[in-house]
Amino acid sequence: MNLFYLLMITCVLQIIAIYEIVLANEIQDSLGNLTTVHYQPEQVHLSFGEQPHDIIVTWSTVDDPGDSLVAYGENEEYTRLARGSRQRFTDGGSEHKSQYIHRVTLNNLKPSAKYIYNCGSSLGWSAKFAFRTVPEGSGWAPHVAIFGDMGNENAQSLTRLQQESQRGRYDAIVHVGDFAYDMNSDNGRVGDEFMRQIETIAAYTPYMVCPGNHEERYNFSHYRNRFSMPNDWENLFYSYNLGPIHFIGISTEVYYFLNYGMKSLIFQYNWLENDLKQATKQENRAKQPWIIVYGHRPMYCSNTDNDDCTHSETLTRVGWPFLHAFGLEDLFYNYGVDVEIWAHEHTYERLWPIYNYTVMNGSQAEPYRNPMAPVHIITGSAGCKEGRDNFVHNASYWSAFRSQDYGYTRLRAYNATHLHFEQVSDDQHGAIIDEFWLIKDKLDTYLSL
Ligand SMILES: *[C@@H]1O[C@H](CO)[C@@H](O)[C@H](O)[C@H]1NC(C)=O
Ligand SMILES: *[C@@H]1O[C@H](CO)[C@@H](O)[C@H](O)[C@H]1NC(C)=O
Ligand SMILES: *[C@@H]1O[C@H](CO)[C@@H](O)[C@H](O)[C@H]1NC(C)=O
Ligand SMILES: *[C@@H]1O[C@H](CO)[C@@H](O)[C@H](O)[C@H]1NC(C)=O
Ligand SMILES: *[C@@H]1O[C@H](CO)[C@@H](O)[C@H](O)[C@H]1NC(C)=O
Ligand SMILES: *[C@@H]1O[C@H](CO)[C@@H](O)[C@H](O)[C@H]1NC(C)=O
Ligand SMILES: [Fe+2]
Repeated sequence: MNLFYLLMITCVLQIIAIYEIVLANEIQDSLGNLTTVHYQPEQVHLSFGEQPHDIIVTWSTVDDPGDSLVAYGENEEYTRLARGSRQRFTDGGSEHKSQYIHRVTLNNLKPSAKYIYNCGSSLGWSAKFAFRTVPEGSGWAPHVAIFGDMGNENAQSLTRLQQESQRGRYDAIVHVGDFAYDMNSDNGRVGDEFMRQIETIAAYTPYMVCPGNHEERYNFSHYRNRFSMPNDWENLFYSYNLGPIHFIGISTEVYYFLNYGMKSLIFQYNWLENDLKQATKQENRAKQPWIIVYGHRPMYCSNTDNDDCTHSETLTRVGWPFLHAFGLEDLFYNYGVDVEIWAHEHTYERLWPIYNYTVMNGSQAEPYRNPMAPVHIITGSAGCKEGRDNFVHNASYWSAFRSQDYGYTRLRAYNATHLHFEQVSDDQHGAIIDEFWLIKDKLDTYLSL
């Protein structure tokens, strides 16, 4: 009996002793600094480099793992290793939260090939991802999903886009400005979470972007640091060829945030003119007959929110007041740009071919067959916490179709003569609520017709 009690007491004492050690450790931890390290890659996303067979892999770690590597290869084998670099990016908010953005370019990949990859360093590797490179040349039919204004909250179209991307539906995804709402919010945490949300798309399909007004904080630093577009002007404007399309991404924001200086505006305009000159050289336009520009803020719109596009002298359209310098409508018209895609309005709107408020249909019966001016599309309804925008009651004469449904646009460039657009409504479970063919019977543009 005595022995039993003795054992019981020893046991209890021992349990108390262990508990005290645990407690003491916890107290010590809370007095000293509990440290975590974060070398594990996250927010992985792809983009096209200088040409679509160069793929840039971008990701984030909080701490510096000392290396930026991508292991990759065909046939499910990691046969190659590419090394890149990383940059410390510090948010402009009160916590000065910082992270390392890693960039590695995989050069000269094989056309029409399936690659697997993971990214990281000896201190941690990402999950295994895969992507398919695009075919060679311009004789294939790229399929692209396009939308703007997608936030962290109420990203309604994202789920459908995730499923479609995972099933290999698109060759590229274009997000026409306004991310996360906003990437800088909560000391950058909203941006981090948004970039994690889109990883399911963007780690498998190149995710091409341009800046919107919601990226303005700290001189667009979140936008400039988190993405990796081709060109070295900090992702603000760039161009690339995809099959028969010459895509040009621009910043409309350089017209609105003059507080950051006018250098970007002037530089972009000159760069644009030069890029259009190159793209419209006969040998280039023969390969890429379609010139498609995307930027965030529209030149025309029939919404009620008093945004600049609701006024007739839109800054991007006519340029600076009085001087009328740097206006984009004339520039795009004079180089025969085919399509201009915008967002910012949380709606979808398709316009008849238009120049300077004059509708220039190819013909009354077939307005989009050999149109005499660019076609504008506004697709800013992917879904964000600001909700939908409203339309004025009566659409203007230049407006062909409007919808307030959340959704996104699909573009398929079948060949040198046929482009097809369709608008997916997420509210209507993926129904196509609008579609049209843009047809050019000759390689010539409306300028020479
Ligand atoms: C804990 O962190 C603070 C602030 O970074 C630092 O000043 C302090 O010296 C650290 N204390 C210990 C025990 O490492
Ligand atoms: C903002 O960034 C642009 C582009 O890098 C630069 O030219 C400009 O000087 C910056 N403005 C300010 C106020 O920092
Ligand atoms: C555009 O239309 C306005 C108003 O009709 C006119 O004053 C202006 O000269 C036109 N601009 C061009 C470049 O044709
Ligand atoms: C352009 O075509 C559409 C569709 O046929 C038509 O409703 C519109 O009136 C036309 N506009 C002009 C100026 O011809
Ligand atoms: C819309 O157009 C109709 C028919 O032309 C007209 O009766 C009505 O007053 C217009 N409504 C507005 C708000 O302009
Ligand atoms: C281009 O694509 C369209 C749509 O698929 C097709 O009808 C047309 O015949 C094609 N043209 C050429 C030259 O292949
Ligand atoms: Fe916007």
